[in-house]
Amino acid sequence: MNSPDSFLQDLLARMSLPEKIGQLTQARIEDQSPEKIQAGLKAGRWGSRILAQTNWAGNLKNKSLNVEEMNAQQKVAVEESPAGIPLIFGRDVIYGHRTVYPIPHCQAASFHPDLVEKACTCVAREAAAEGIHWTFSPMLDLVRDPRWGRVIESYGEDPFLISEMGCASVRGFQGEDPSAPDRILACAKHFAGYGGSEGGRDYDSTDWSDDSLHNMILPPFRAAVEAGIASMMSGFNQLAGRSVSASPHLTRDWLKTQLDWDGFIVSDWGSVNDLIAHRQAETRSDAARLALEAGIDMDMVDALYEEGLAALVDSGELSEALIDEAVLRVLRAKQRAGLFERPYTEPTPDLQRAPEHIAIAVELACQSIVLLKNDGILPLAATHKKIAVLGPYAEARRQHLGSWCLDGRSEDVTPILDALRTQMPDVNFITANAAFTDEMIAAARSAELTLVCVGESHVRNGEAKSIGELALPPGQEAFISALGALGVPMVIIDCSGRYLPIPAAEQYALAILHAGSLGTEAGTAIAKVLSGEVNPSGKLPMTVPRFTGQIPIYYNRKSPGSALNRGLFKGYEDKRVTPLYPFGFGKSYTEFSLENIELSAEHLPPGESVTLRATLRNLGGRSGAQVVQLYIQDAVSIPTRPMRELKGFQRIELEAGASQTLTFELSEKQLGFYTSKGEWIVQPGEFRLALGFDSTAELTHTLHYKNTL
Ligand code: BGC
Repeated sequence: MNSPDSFLQDLLARMSLPEKIGQLTQARIEDQSPEKIQAGLKAGRWGSRILAQTNWAGNLKNKSLNVEEMNAQQKVAVEESPAGIPLIFGRDVIYGHRTVYPIPHCQAASFHPDLVEKACTCVAREAAAEGIHWTFSPMLDLVRDPRWGRVIESYGEDPFLISEMGCASVRGFQGEDPSAPDRILACAKHFAGYGGSEGGRDYDSTDWSDDSLHNMILPPFRAAVEAGIASMMSGFNQLAGRSVSASPHLTRDWLKTQLDWDGFIVSDWGSVNDLIAHRQAETRSDAARLALEAGIDMDMVDALYEEGLAALVDSGELSEALIDEAVLRVLRAKQRAGLFERPYTEPTPDLQRAPEHIAIAVELACQSIVLLKNDGILPLAATHKKIAVLGPYAEARRQHLGSWCLDGRSEDVTPILDALRTQMPDVNFITANAAFTDEMIAAARSAELTLVCVGESHVRNGEAKSIGELALPPGQEAFISALGALGVPMVIIDCSGRYLPIPAAEQYALAILHAGSLGTEAGTAIAKVLSGEVNPSGKLPMTVPRFTGQIPIYYNRKSPGSALNRGLFKGYEDKRVTPLYPFGFGKSYTEFSLENIELSAEHLPPGESVTLRATLRNLGGRSGAQVVQLYIQDAVSIPTRPMRELKGFQRIELEAGASQTLTFELSEKQLGFYTSKGEWIVQPGEFRLALGFDSTAELTHTLHYKNTL
């Protein structure tokens, strides 16, 4: 870690122990009386204020921001507290502020990190203009169980994709210089492994192997460190016998010492107190000590540090040096955020929903849509005269904003039906009550085509919202079947925040479009894709199972034993074993081919690289984008490696009939992995390579790597 500059050292030297502990305390102060707040600020009781009412604030209606009030509080902290240290205001600005972008799970489907970076730049601009200094995003949890409601906040099941998207988001929020007035600090969460909550039940234990921990869970956090992330959040989960909010080998040893990271760690809402629930600590004081010793620098809302640290130092059970180290990390983050020079916010209301923010939101929403099935009915033909737009999402607004949205407004969302009417003014779009009624059936019968807008609402996913059955909410399958039975051509638009199997849609629909939760511009984006103005290019960031019992099912798994597929044993007696849709899959309105895939050399000497080259051709009659994906398979190794690993991707736009040559570089960086002790190794041997449009692409080339010359 860089040695702290003299300004911070001098500041620290002037602070009393209670003031130091104040810097390590994040509070939710709004439920206190104005007098108590004033007194607390004057005493330097809190280093940070979280602008939220409950932890899963996204599911509740929250108080809107009040910049004047925040500036007034800041003034007391800066001018009247003994050390005059500004507060850092944190809020869950997860994927949007007033302009709401697609949820991260949908952003991942864009496979377009540069666009995600632009979106996060706009989010930072809007949030900073309302006094927010620090967001609790990006979430870098790798997820294999979509029943977990927080899958919607994740970038999916692949560590490389998560890293690419996570770093793009860090660059977008923080920029080159996070102290700029239009940037905010990012916070990578939830360190580490929370996405493995057993059974998809939120807050449950996790039990990743060391192999998975080092190769699946930690790489995105390492990448975030390399991208300059200012803070991280420790999770709620236990991992292999310890709460990750008191796991010194993960936080102090790996993150801070081994990676030499100089940012700070905040606990999750009450996660230090959870050491008691986990039965790792007996008392609140023990919990505070264990967390601080593990390197958790700031305590989010449960007041354990405030309550217990001073007594622990006085009794000699805790060294004040550990507190000093944590305080310096927090102060450094405040310095990085420019708070010592610019503690106050100049409100700039014009920035909210600025046209350029909306334009990027439309673009990202379009690119986040995944076309899963299409018999050619899409895009909608201009010749249609009457189309029924039905289902719970036909005119929905709030639902498109997703479950972790605090500042987006329903009135800013254009519903799908309205957007279609604007997009295709010559078509008569009709609808009926969103409930399943005879009127709805009658509307479908009177139309040439039905667009059925189904989905899972934001109140059924997100934090503390897991489901036991990976399926649409009750009634929607029946509704699709009833419409399907009419024989009227049907297109399904699925507005669920996660990827769910929809058996009735598979059976009856001619096309299935996964829209997800796309934010304020959802309707506009969906209408552009349905009409063909935009050709869909999204790809699945997660494998879609056929049925719930198939979970966990993910593409980067280990090879099974040979008895699978021997004789009659195919995995299940009663069901198919293959996924409904593989990771990386997504269709387009045009066709692409990959031709002349060539490897520049079959042998890779140490320290060098080889190139995999191919020509991508758009064979169809309209322009479109394709995401070309590179996978490797380590032929033989100890420890064993996954059947496939994504090592690169490129999103290429091509005009009809056009072609482009692509090159992917391969070096030791793509071939190596971490041992279960966390050491990076590259083993000599054979590596099989696949270039294609999803994770089932054929392994066509072999590369031999020698680690000696
Ligand atoms: C969530 C975090 C969130 C925090 C603050 C917690 O319950 O797990 O992701 O940032 O609350 O609202």
